[in-house]
Amino acid sequence: MNSVMFKRLVAAFGLVMVCVSAWALTDKQIAEVESRIQPAGKVCLQGDNTCGAAVASAGGAAKSGEEVYKSSCQGCHATGAGGAPKLGDVADWGKRAEKGVDTLHKHAIEGFSDIGMMPAKGLCMSCSDEEVMAAVDYILENSK
Ligand code: HEC
Repeated sequence: MNSVMFKRLVAAFGLVMVCVSAWALTDKQIAEVESRIQPAGKVCLQGDNTCGAAVASAGGAAKSGEEVYKSSCQGCHATGAGGAPKLGDVADWGKRAEKGVDTLHKHAIEGFSDIGMMPAKGLCMSCSDEEVMAAVDYILENSK
């Protein structure tokens, strides 16, 4: 290797090092590394939306009534399968609402069988009671 080639090599190597270190030091990169090295069980303070995704995946954030309805109830309640009162059927839901919202909440959580088979929690075993009640409210809201 002659000296010119060697100098070029050193210069090229230097350039690469400058690029690498500049890349490594951008704020974005540092932030990314910091987020990766955070402990998995990091406490999320309420109102801190920077770790909201972690809370949701841990089951912390409640699903809305509409979300629960769409994922767990509409299979029967959109079509009327097995005698399920259809969403939007004002007459059918009107009759049921006469029992009182509390009773409808209870029947949705525990299950109910009169003319058909309403399974407990609409088979959404991961749903909290509150989420099932919110789904009932969503159905009633859209059936009057
Ligand atoms: C496998 C089908 C099925 C699924 C899934 C289902 N339901 Fe039902 N649901 C029924 C049937 C059938 C009835 C009618 C039962 C009867 O009157 O005998 C019913 C009735 C109800 C009633 C009325 C109870 C009463 O006292 O009249 C409510 C409230 C209700 N469902 C809420 C829900 C909610 C909320 C979900 C989702 C979390 C859900 N259902 C999912 C089939 C289903």
